[in-house]
Amino acid sequence: MDSIWIKGGKRLEGRIPISGAKNAALTLLPCALLTDEPLTLGNLPRLADVDSFGHLLNQLGVSTSIAGVRSGQFGRRMTLQASDLASTVAPYDMVRKMRASVLVLGPMLARAGEATVSLPGGCAIGDRPIDLHLKALECLGADIELTAGYVKATAPKGRLTGGDFSFPVVSVGATENALMAAVLATGRSQLFNAAREPEIVDLCNLLVAMGAKIEGIGSAHLVIDGVQGLNGTTYEVMPDRIEAGSYACAAGITGGSIELVGARPQDMLAITNALSQAGLIVEFTEHGIKVSADRALKPLALSTAPFPCFPTDMQAQFMAMLALAEGDSFLEETIFENRYMHVPELRRMGGEVDIHGRSAIVHGVGKLTGAEVMATDLRASMSLVLAGLAAEGETEVLRVYHLDRGYERLEEKLLAVGAAIERRSSG
Ligand code: EPZ
Repeated sequence: MDSIWIKGGKRLEGRIPISGAKNAALTLLPCALLTDEPLTLGNLPRLADVDSFGHLLNQLGVSTSIAGVRSGQFGRRMTLQASDLASTVAPYDMVRKMRASVLVLGPMLARAGEATVSLPGGCAIGDRPIDLHLKALECLGADIELTAGYVKATAPKGRLTGGDFSFPVVSVGATENALMAAVLATGRSQLFNAAREPEIVDLCNLLVAMGAKIEGIGSAHLVIDGVQGLNGTTYEVMPDRIEAGSYACAAGITGGSIELVGARPQDMLAITNALSQAGLIVEFTEHGIKVSADRALKPLALSTAPFPCFPTDMQAQFMAMLALAEGDSFLEETIFENRYMHVPELRRMGGEVDIHGRSAIVHGVGKLTGAEVMATDLRASMSLVLAGLAAEGETEVLRVYHLDRGYERLEEKLLAVGAAIERRSSG
């Protein structure tokens, strides 16, 4: 298993190209199931999860081809075509490894009138059920049966009718599944309290480019009029706001200055506002967003919430940065029940964090010290890398396969702005 070795204390300066968004890619890829025509996606990040999703689609009968990428270039161009489906089953071993696999449920149901998808099971950050996905699909006309750990969804008469559903809790994945199911239904669907994340807007924009009829894009009230069929198209994946925010924290924690090339300000205002409140200088440039730290970090009070509020996917990274702030910060994690797995490891590096249920008090300390630490989930891993960049001495982050799920060529990007970092394979 690979690890990432870091010698801390370097002030990071320069430019980091931001890759395509993982959480957009993982909902755009299954759209290939909605048409028998070719769908080409550009700016796809080179990530383990994107590869895994491609393999799942291959098992369902979708052909995928990658256009040649010049060395050093980030992102890939993939053409997908589901001429006809070979299977409508997403097996447990796939879904277990990557929860986003459940996003084939809605499009398969829309295309084939049936889908069998394993229940995902829990994960490190929480139980993460899919009950809202299933309730939404039932409102759109699906029959849902749960047997032996699998969801079997069918559309009576082979086609969903469409319908209205109001989400009791904002759910990104459930909104995505409902959208991909509704676009080929026979009638109108309305989603209330839908997720408004930029990745949902990216999905709506792709579906409209394929011929779907969607009103209210970007709002919590989506109106979808089903169409007879959808076409293939070519579409560029949006930039990754969480990757950009993560590297912004690298500038903050090392007292550096990094331009996040390709980052879109409108996707990350809650993040840039928090960075400014922490004392960083945030500039919107013609190439993206430049984040600089020239003074001590100020403590913050942050509560995670659905877009446009402060994203849960940035909580661990901010905690690492605020570990070195001048004073006590207060963080509240309102989305997932167990998203403090990075805390025990940060403590081993000298961080002082008290957890009280879903709240954390981060007592700013003068320094962190390097240590051997264990990654547990994607964003926790990034918070340990950030701590290592600022810590005195050497840090080794183990189990970096978590990182490879969400950060394209992380060590290359950090090396380019002056980090002393390398990937070590332990066979
Ligand atoms: C997406 O997960 C993202 N993943 C997550 O990013 C992100 O943290 C999350 O949205 C919140 O923004 C992808 O897009 C692939 P939810 P998702 O449904 O869709 C509860 C990362 O680090 N819920 O919005 O699974 C759920 O338990 C990952 O990139 C139900 O109760 O999240 C959670 O408490 C981690 N029933 C809350 O809703 C359901 O049917 C929000 O979950 C669905 C969700």
